[in-house]
Amino acid sequence: MPITKASALANGATHSSTIGNARTLRAPPARRREDALAVLVADHARIAQLFERFDGLESSGPRKASIVLRLCDEIDVHSRIEEEIFYPSVRAALARDDVVDAAAVEHETARAMTGQLRLLRPGDLHYDAKVRVLGEYVRHHVEVEEDAIFPHALAMDADLVALGRALKARRRQLHLAGGGRRRFALIACPGSAGA
Ligand SMILES: [Fe+2]
Ligand SMILES: [Fe+2]
Repeated sequence: MPITKASALANGATHSSTIGNARTLRAPPARRREDALAVLVADHARIAQLFERFDGLESSGPRKASIVLRLCDEIDVHSRIEEEIFYPSVRAALARDDVVDAAAVEHETARAMTGQLRLLRPGDLHYDAKVRVLGEYVRHHVEVEEDAIFPHALAMDADLVALGRALKARRRQLHLAGGGRRRFALIACPGSAGA
């Protein structure tokens, strides 16, 4: 699964997007490193990287299961912090909030898919296919967020840095509550703990 916009943004590219009448919004890279969008884009890139790692594995086994469990944790926690903190904040900046509604429904579907995967093991029927379908689904969802929601967050009158701190704090809390760190220790993926 190619890392496209998410990784470019996470690596310091200027976020730009066009809304309505060719209006282009840009966030200074220095600010973005700390703000809510940077936190979420870094999550997107990390999740995309995990899907790539899964695609690169030849054999079934513990390593594959470890990556999938981590993917499930990352996706579920990321969805939660968006729903609890980010979406309510950005909803007011959108003229139509059906985009956020649709994104929240996509989270529900993704959660159902991660819930299924948590019960399966490599080698089970359709295991690999389920992971890849989840990857395609998440990639679509991320494109919608970055193209149709994030630009509005840049335009709203809110402290995105404070929002970013709140997202990171809640993410850390959820990872600890889920006991994810023991499973995460099985594979190394840079930047997960405090990104
Ligand atoms: Fe999302
Ligand atoms: Fe997201």
